[in-house]
Amino acid sequence: MEELNETHVTEFILLGITDLPHLQVILFITFLIFYLLSFIGNLSIVALVITDRGLHTPMYFLLGNLSFLDFFYATTTVPKLLSCLVFEDKKISFEGCIVQLHIFHFLGSTEAMLLASMSYDRYVAICNPLRYHVLMARAACFQLAFTSWLIGFLYSLTHTILTSKLPFCNMNKITHFYCDIKPLLKLACTDTHINESLVNILTGSVALGTFTLIIISYIFIATHIQKIQTQHGRSKALSTCTSHLTVVFLYYGTAFCTYLRPATKDSLEQDRLTAILFTVITPALNPIIYALRNKDVKKAFRKFFRENLFLK
Ligand SMILES: *[C@@H]1O[C@H](CO)[C@@H](O)[C@H](O)[C@H]1NC(C)=O
Repeated sequence: MEELNETHVTEFILLGITDLPHLQVILFITFLIFYLLSFIGNLSIVALVITDRGLHTPMYFLLGNLSFLDFFYATTTVPKLLSCLVFEDKKISFEGCIVQLHIFHFLGSTEAMLLASMSYDRYVAICNPLRYHVLMARAACFQLAFTSWLIGFLYSLTHTILTSKLPFCNMNKITHFYCDIKPLLKLACTDTHINESLVNILTGSVALGTFTLIIISYIFIATHIQKIQTQHGRSKALSTCTSHLTVVFLYYGTAFCTYLRPATKDSLEQDRLTAILFTVITPALNPIIYALRNKDVKKAFRKFFRENLFLK
């Protein structure tokens, strides 16, 4: 036991994505573009939701929360990944690693719950429009958002505490580009079967639970939309859901691919690839999906440009 303590790991090495120099340059440029997109896109949506009166509704408050979250979500991993690619800056302290793991899972799970809250909002708006302002009053909306953030935090704290208590002896090379649970479990010098099952159970219940809520909301929405007689009424009801549904599919598609599989050596390799999707690409796509597909957001963007760029 004493010997183990002497070689206790104080820092980790993130192996990143590739060692091939020319590929590193290409990846750096690509990821940088995506990061800038998600930086500008998400912060613009937050700014619009706060300043534009047309967007002061529950749906857009929740969208503002989602964009706010996506911005930090990308910022937790991408800058480190970029500096890993160009400066070969691969070291991360033990504490830094645990903090990154915590924030990453905190934001990741909160996103799932915000997406579920947004589908509940759509369900009420479409199936129960007369009571929308009662059911989604400011206080209720605030509670939905707050509960999402709180549960996300506690959920992630469980992972963080369990992972930080693991003994790490002499292996410190993480086969990933950020600190995630499964790659860390592989490095621990102890039997991690219980941890692994817990990760699967916890992650599975959050993912499946929120996904089920979303599916149920959309089953109600779909049956309701079927009953609408006019084509115009139908497409109007649908149009407020399509951007949310697209974001939902992006999120759950990648999440299920990564977390609901056992941690074998091959799957860790694949995990790195799907992780690029949800750390680098999805946070950049979410605001674009909303900016292109949602009429109110489009209108707010146009108004913003007219007032701030062209008339001054
Ligand atoms: C997040 O949602 C809450 C609840 O409606 C809202 O008050 C807050 O302004 C939102 N935050 C952002 C950044 O949109």
